[in-house]
Amino acid sequence: MCWIARCFSSPAWECYLFTFPKVWKILHLEMPLARMAEKREKQRGPSPFSLTPFLAVHLTGTKYSCGEGGCGSCTVMVSRYNPKNKKIRHYPVTACLVPICSLYGAAVTTVEGVGSIKTRIHPVQERLAKCHGTQCGFCSPGMVMSIYTLLRNHPEPTPDQITKALGGNLCRCTGYRLIVESGKTFCEESTACQMKGSGKCCMDQEEKSFVNREEKICTKLYNEDEFQPFDPSQEPIFPPELIRMAEDPNKRRLTFQGKRTTWITSVTLSDLLELKVNFPQAPLVMGNTEVGPRIKFEDEFYPVFITPLGLPELYFVDSTDNGVTIGAGYSLAQLNDALGSIVSEQPKEKTKTYRALLKHLRTLAGPQIRNMATLGGHVVSRPNYSDLNPILAAGNAIINLISKDGERQIALDSKFLERAPEANLKSEEIVLSVSIPHSTKWHFVSGMRLAQCQENAFAIVNAGMSVKFEDGTDTIKDLQMFYGSVGPTVVSASQTCKQLIGRQWDDQMLSDACRLVLDEIYIPPAAEGGMVEYRRTLIISLLFKFYLKVRRGLNKMDPQKFPDIPEKFMSALEDFPIETPQGIQMFQCVDPRQPPQDPVGHPVMHQSAIKHATGEAVYIDDMPPIAQELFLAPVTSTRAHAKIISIDVSEALALPGVVDVITAEDVPGDNNPQEEILYAQNEVICVGQIICTVAADTHAHAKEAAKQVKITYEDIEPRIITIEQALEHNSFLTAERKIEQGNVEQAFKHVDQIIEGEVHVEGQEHFYMETQTILAIPKEEDKEMVLHLGMQYPTHVQDFVATALNVPRSRIACHMRRAGGAFGGKASKPALLGAITAVAANKTGRPIRFILERGDDMLITAGRHPLLGKYKIGFMNNGVIKSADVEYYVNGGCTPDESELVVDIIVLKSENTYYIPNFRCRGRACKTNLPSNTAFRGFGFPQSTVVVEAYITAVASQCNLSPEEIREINMYKRISKTAYKDMFNPEPLRRCWKECLEKSSFYARKQAAEEFNKKNYWKKKGLSVIPMKFTVGIPYTYLNQAAALVHIYLDGSVLVIHGGCEFGQGLYTKMVQVASRELNIPSSYIHPYETSTVTVPNAVFTAASMGTDTNGKAVQNACQILMARLQPIIRKNPKGKWEDWVNHWWGSAFISLLISLLRGYQTNMDWEKEEGHAFPYYLYGVSCSEVEVDCLTGAHKLLRTDIFIDAAFSINPALDIGQVEGGFIQGMGLYTTEELKYSPEGVLYSRGTNDYKIPAVAEIPEEFYVTFVRSQNPIAIYSSKGLGEASMFLGSSVFFAIQDAVTAARRERGLTTSFTLNSPATPELIRMNCMDQFTEMKNTPNSVRINSKWK
Ligand SMILES: Cc1cc2nc3c(=O)[nH]c(=O)nc-3n(C[C@H](O)[C@H](O)[C@H](O)COP(=O)(O)OP(=O)(O)OC[C@H]3O[C@@H](n4cnc5c(N)ncnc54)[C@H](O)[C@@H]3O)c2cc1C
Ligand code: FES
Ligand code: FES
Repeated sequence: MCWIARCFSSPAWECYLFTFPKVWKILHLEMPLARMAEKREKQRGPSPFSLTPFLAVHLTGTKYSCGEGGCGSCTVMVSRYNPKNKKIRHYPVTACLVPICSLYGAAVTTVEGVGSIKTRIHPVQERLAKCHGTQCGFCSPGMVMSIYTLLRNHPEPTPDQITKALGGNLCRCTGYRLIVESGKTFCEESTACQMKGSGKCCMDQEEKSFVNREEKICTKLYNEDEFQPFDPSQEPIFPPELIRMAEDPNKRRLTFQGKRTTWITSVTLSDLLELKVNFPQAPLVMGNTEVGPRIKFEDEFYPVFITPLGLPELYFVDSTDNGVTIGAGYSLAQLNDALGSIVSEQPKEKTKTYRALLKHLRTLAGPQIRNMATLGGHVVSRPNYSDLNPILAAGNAIINLISKDGERQIALDSKFLERAPEANLKSEEIVLSVSIPHSTKWHFVSGMRLAQCQENAFAIVNAGMSVKFEDGTDTIKDLQMFYGSVGPTVVSASQTCKQLIGRQWDDQMLSDACRLVLDEIYIPPAAEGGMVEYRRTLIISLLFKFYLKVRRGLNKMDPQKFPDIPEKFMSALEDFPIETPQGIQMFQCVDPRQPPQDPVGHPVMHQSAIKHATGEAVYIDDMPPIAQELFLAPVTSTRAHAKIISIDVSEALALPGVVDVITAEDVPGDNNPQEEILYAQNEVICVGQIICTVAADTHAHAKEAAKQVKITYEDIEPRIITIEQALEHNSFLTAERKIEQGNVEQAFKHVDQIIEGEVHVEGQEHFYMETQTILAIPKEEDKEMVLHLGMQYPTHVQDFVATALNVPRSRIACHMRRAGGAFGGKASKPALLGAITAVAANKTGRPIRFILERGDDMLITAGRHPLLGKYKIGFMNNGVIKSADVEYYVNGGCTPDESELVVDIIVLKSENTYYIPNFRCRGRACKTNLPSNTAFRGFGFPQSTVVVEAYITAVASQCNLSPEEIREINMYKRISKTAYKDMFNPEPLRRCWKECLEKSSFYARKQAAEEFNKKNYWKKKGLSVIPMKFTVGIPYTYLNQAAALVHIYLDGSVLVIHGGCEFGQGLYTKMVQVASRELNIPSSYIHPYETSTVTVPNAVFTAASMGTDTNGKAVQNACQILMARLQPIIRKNPKGKWEDWVNHWWGSAFISLLISLLRGYQTNMDWEKEEGHAFPYYLYGVSCSEVEVDCLTGAHKLLRTDIFIDAAFSINPALDIGQVEGGFIQGMGLYTTEELKYSPEGVLYSRGTNDYKIPAVAEIPEEFYVTFVRSQNPIAIYSSKGLGEASMFLGSSVFFAIQDAVTAARRERGLTTSFTLNSPATPELIRMNCMDQFTEMKNTPNSVRINSKWK
């Protein structure tokens, strides 16, 4: 906890007093502004005022990931004392958006203040760790802070509150369920059952319906009895000094003077108004959630900021008979609470506007932003996507303004929202409060929205609507319709509304209203955000929802007079609720005869989990500054394909702090290792390619200077962006790969039917929470260089750096302890970025820190390959597929990277689980002018197999059979050979398939879904069950090797080192388990050490689900050799202890060091003959998902998922279940919400949390069941299987369940059920495929263009 407690009111910002409470250590820091500012600026941050870089000076627990308030990694708790009600308010905020000066008088608790390994860990931290809620750990401090803050306010929260509290925190690894579960252990009901509404304990249920007792299935991944109790009374008290300060009647204006900016905190209203007169351009910073991002992303600069501190005039709720007035300073969270209590007190008819606001307040951003953003800030900033302003306007809200000249009121109406000059605030005015009138009996108000995700996502379209009727009738007296995200401001359909006055609320009125509103609200074809047809459809779909709601409301008031809406339309009224996820995980119990100290097979906690949760796990950016360190900022190409005419760095070099600009000329060795490019030279081949980098003394200086580098280009033709364009230009990175069996052409002649189709599966951003970060330190001697970076392939980094510097590899040392997620994104890219950094370090002779901002990371490093699959399938009417000819094209981007491997894997795995006797598959990587795509969990399998399941679905539709029947008919059933003639036994697949169908009650639920669909026109349920045949590893033997180095010290402690990298999957933990079993000592004796090219040279990459397989065998081998060496000593003293045996001075040389090399699996693939043993073994799985789709908006809700996966024997079920759940959710993101958007010129638009939506907690299945199916795998260590990647593809069961639901809608509407659904199945695709009268109407020509200013 730090108290920002004292500021001497003087022109200079003299000091802060930081006091860390007893639980930590007492530490007083008095820092003159200059020193502090210097330190602060050295760190990165969204704006010079942000809390994040300030904390980073001393406290590295708080993580930085997006810098825009969208991920929650930087969550801290702010506590403030309110002298009026004498209460302390604790609330979560995202430190990256909190201006440090705004914290005057507040107590800030960071993760370090919650608990630490050095003192005492807090139950929140302990339970997050022990419940396996951390993997890479980068999101964990933020998760801890969100739950901790909730507990400070609600020591016994409800499960719903836990889910709500986590709504603003993103995690890319775990899939959230285990995080939620850790939070649920604080809920009162958690000690009882977690199964919603069953009335039974989940364990009872499990025994009844899930467990085959003979298999000895376990379900407990942790033991609650180990948890320390949570005693809320033990939390640190609020600093009394801050209470005294808050109650001080003689508060004075505070001025914080920085180098370029001045921050003025006003403590009286009159002073604030005075300041507004003196500084008319100064923003009034409240939550800073609008000003902060503007400064960071739009380069806005303000010399003066003004903020109020605790002015009672801005913080109040005043409820009268006519309505409620709420102070502009109230945060949206406080607004929520205030409206909640009014709703509970007032009769329903008066609270329609409040209830509409409350609905949107639940999903607007995450809890952190809702606690920061204020009502006044929201109203004044008038974002075009505003969720509240349309409702406030529809509810006739009034804005109360004040200035030195007095008070006045303006309507929060169309003029204000559309920024009519006459309706704007005067520069000296501020919003004091907002008055919202009660609704009345014949007055209906509603808010509707649709976003890519349920929570924490900007609306694609939203609306606030109200209608007033002549009393006792359905004759429209007044109508208001406001839409957000359809133009540069919130817009009003005022002409439409005017024309409908006096009309009855009936279908004819609706039809006219739709036509009129589409005429009135014009979205130009090139509108920002695209999706024009969809947004036009939403405009009228939301209007239809409102129409139904009002009709229902009228009917409730007078059922005789106003007929109700059809029963089948009822479900259209409600949005999907956000439920607390729950589930059961089942895995094999360990053999009771296994020695208790042997950890293999047990759900052992991630070895770094506690450190993750306390923020004490060190990532690269947490490493303390090094003397003389410089920061690097990249200058990237803005053209997709162009000649570089000139690079002018003169202005950049002239800026303060800039040390050098580094270009291709500065690369002493090879600038083009393995056909990749470090610095662009002469030509650029994609937007985002690094042309040069700027090295400067601070990150801010480097970034500023990078913007001043002037590059002139001359475009080169062709510019190839898409796969189709590449095909047109014959532009490829690789030769064609092919696998063929049978006689495809011949077989086509003898089938009943042939279908042809194309499926697009778009790419995916890795979105590891820790962006790529490199620290390169040149050494004084012998051209040595040390690099620290998060990576999957240290050898590759070493290779590229050595090649770039033209030195032997022996001079380059690459180190890593952990990475904050990788998913393939840190396999090859760190080599490029490492070499770029090393060249800069070499040139300047100084250590260089290169940290990619989230947007740059997304732009530069690219991700999963987009894929186009073309198929021709010949089949019989009974569903048997006889022949398939499939072509795959991936968009490889501008350089080879891993594209060849991706294509190999696509082709080799292209049959999935189906035997097709005549089968031909071809694949090729296209060369385009996009950043080079790279490895990503599954290496192409998750994309290509969607095409397989798509043609299975298409065949089903043609045969009038269900997709699962076609799957069953064509699935491999006995020991067989793949299309490339490799033998395999699909028996575990058959078991997974059978068990999944049975245990998920698939057929019964499918029937129930059909019943539901019959009764509901606008909502449809869909189910799918998707089988998977996966192969781990890589078809090249040399990539299956590993080495380990094991030291046994004389005190008995053991150090284990291997070539594998830890990025959340728990590799180090499993290696400790292996060493523990092999050496027959407790895990506590064993310490895993960092991965480095110094200790284990030439290690292969940690990828392809092989980390445990290869490194585990190497560690095992090393331990076994050591144990063999110890045998003579053990034999002499068989009753001795471990310490006795190893503490022999004469034996130490034999046991203290051993490096073991393992030649791993033998795999091969002969592409000439199209046959081989490409992968060491097979792994199977089946996933069943059920969704509900809102046909009017395209939203979907994942109701339930069951996964049955062939885990053989899991070395660590907790880690493996974490991989399965996390991989599934990442796959689900690929197939549903994650949409990369490029311009036709190849510019990536989606570069942050706002534009690219990875699944959040609200997206995961309401019910999530994972079962490990037992099988044998003798060739892998302890008969385990590598589960890192496989479940990614199982996420496609959500995609196909959506397709099933859309098919049901289409069937009912009389449309063809053969349609192509491309991936991702975004709300846009879902809605536009559920065609109806509204999708038809969207094409109505725009005859009236009222908002002519928006072009
Ligand atoms: C990650 C993220 C997600 C978001 N998601 C959503 C979403 O889903 N839906 C949605 O509707 N919004 C969303 N927002 C936007 C958010 O609602 C607004 O940014 C917020 O309401 C602005 O309030 P603030 O107090 O932070 O304003 P500030 O940034 O402090 O100020 C904004 C502007 O208002 C002026 N101002 C502030 N208060 C007053 C006053 N009392 N009188 C006069 N002028 C004033 C300031 O001068 C400044 O120009 C999101 C924002 C973020 C960062
Ligand atoms: S880093 Fe602050 S919210 Fe993402
Ligand atoms: S554990 Fe959450 S991002 Fe890695």
